[in-house]
Amino acid sequence: MVAARITVNGKETRISPAPAHTTVLDFLRERGLTGTKEGCAEGECGACSVLVARPGVDKPTDWVAVNACLVPVAALDGQEVVTSEGLAGADASGTPAVLHPVQEEMAVRGGSQCGFCTPGFICSMASEYYRPDRCAHADPANGSGSGSGSGSGSEHGPNGFDLHALSGNLCRCTGYRPIRDAAYAVGMPAEDDPLAQRREQSPPEPAATAYTQDDSAFLRPGTLADAVRLLRERPDAVVVAGSTDWGVEVNIRSRRAHCVVAVDRLPELRALHVGSDHIEIGAAQTLTEIERRLDGAVPLLAELFPQFASRLIRNSATLGGNLGTGSPIGDSPPVLLALEASLVLADADGEREVPLCDYFTGYRQSVRRPGELIRAVRVPLPLSPVTAFHKIAKRRFDDISSVAVAFALDIEDGTVRKARIGLGGIAATPIRALATEAALEGEPWTERTAEAAARVLRAEGTPMDDHRASAGYRTAMLGQSLLKLYARTTEAVPS
Ligand code: FES
Ligand code: FES
Repeated sequence: MVAARITVNGKETRISPAPAHTTVLDFLRERGLTGTKEGCAEGECGACSVLVARPGVDKPTDWVAVNACLVPVAALDGQEVVTSEGLAGADASGTPAVLHPVQEEMAVRGGSQCGFCTPGFICSMASEYYRPDRCAHADPANGSGSGSGSGSGSEHGPNGFDLHALSGNLCRCTGYRPIRDAAYAVGMPAEDDPLAQRREQSPPEPAATAYTQDDSAFLRPGTLADAVRLLRERPDAVVVAGSTDWGVEVNIRSRRAHCVVAVDRLPELRALHVGSDHIEIGAAQTLTEIERRLDGAVPLLAELFPQFASRLIRNSATLGGNLGTGSPIGDSPPVLLALEASLVLADADGEREVPLCDYFTGYRQSVRRPGELIRAVRVPLPLSPVTAFHKIAKRRFDDISSVAVAFALDIEDGTVRKARIGLGGIAATPIRALATEAALEGEPWTERTAEAAARVLRAEGTPMDDHRASAGYRTAMLGQSLLKLYARTTEAVPS
């Protein structure tokens, strides 16, 4: 077995003797790369952002920004990482001397004061800078850089920079306008830019990692068959994909595992297939990959993604992980329930398909057996044409929902032929609003029907009072959500 290694800013280095739970952030800082900062240690501030070479959507390799505080360094065995120090060009002594274009724009536009958040912003900006399908708008009205307009271009700069690339980065002292100005001022990478050129070659293959320190192991099987065999042998193993949940457990709750098994690069969990009667999404595709590959083909998912945490988290998080944790306030279950999705579960004995509406059995519990993996999510076709996802939270982006409601309706000749409604945050598990669906189906899509069904929807679930919202608020939001959908579907279209 080859010793675990990671390439950081072009230099390969051994991972040992770091303990198996060591994060990329701690590993880098212990080696003097202190530009990468720890702010929150739970994926919410972006101070720890670094770039990783990953399989690309439009080119062989994408430079993807991830939260270094959440990822175990052993998960990047054989992989390439670039930090804010590595973005700057070095002089003959190896000292960073020439600012990268995104660093230059941040400096000249006053995008940094105390500087604590700046290296994280720089890495997130650099990821967007190198996004292959970023292109400048020919029409200056479509993203003037003022950021004050509305419409599809209002959060893209004239250089095509998607400001949501920075949604996972917080700054407490500069203020965001100069940062946005810097983002909207960066140009396109030069032809001889080494990181731009690197995109044309394949990313590193996933390594077959068996990293053990003391009595803790980080294991990366090469195939699904190896993975399910391993999980049968090691029922105590913690399964991770993007580590966006496990990383928080390790950092904030000091949890440790004797064995962590990574499934995020298993080829069998990485496919995305659009068939004639369903779409199959590999459980280990990241949300960013799904978003870019589907490119709006499932409007309800397209509505979900921007509201699911931040770009930094979506670059690592997976549907399999969001369903596997079984959280009653996960963002994807209400949407997938409305889409009537099913899960393909795999273990050493084979596969079975379980409708998502039968998957959750209690608080963070499901029908998934020990040793069983979520291999894929299947969304049946055709899709219902009237859809909406309403996430009610204290912040518009990057927040945990108080209530989440997803609708998928077939309305023909003014009558609701089919209604599927997924709910989150109002019971111990995500649920379907079955009584409300029944109250809608066969009824004319009128204000009277919507009001009557909204009354039924207010009675669904068993909402609780907690620090996010009261039970009464949650109940009220359920009803409002259906009335909002009705208003949206019937509002006059301006000529
Ligand atoms: Fe805050 Fe990593 S330290 S996201
Ligand atoms: Fe101080 Fe952003 S410059 S936190």
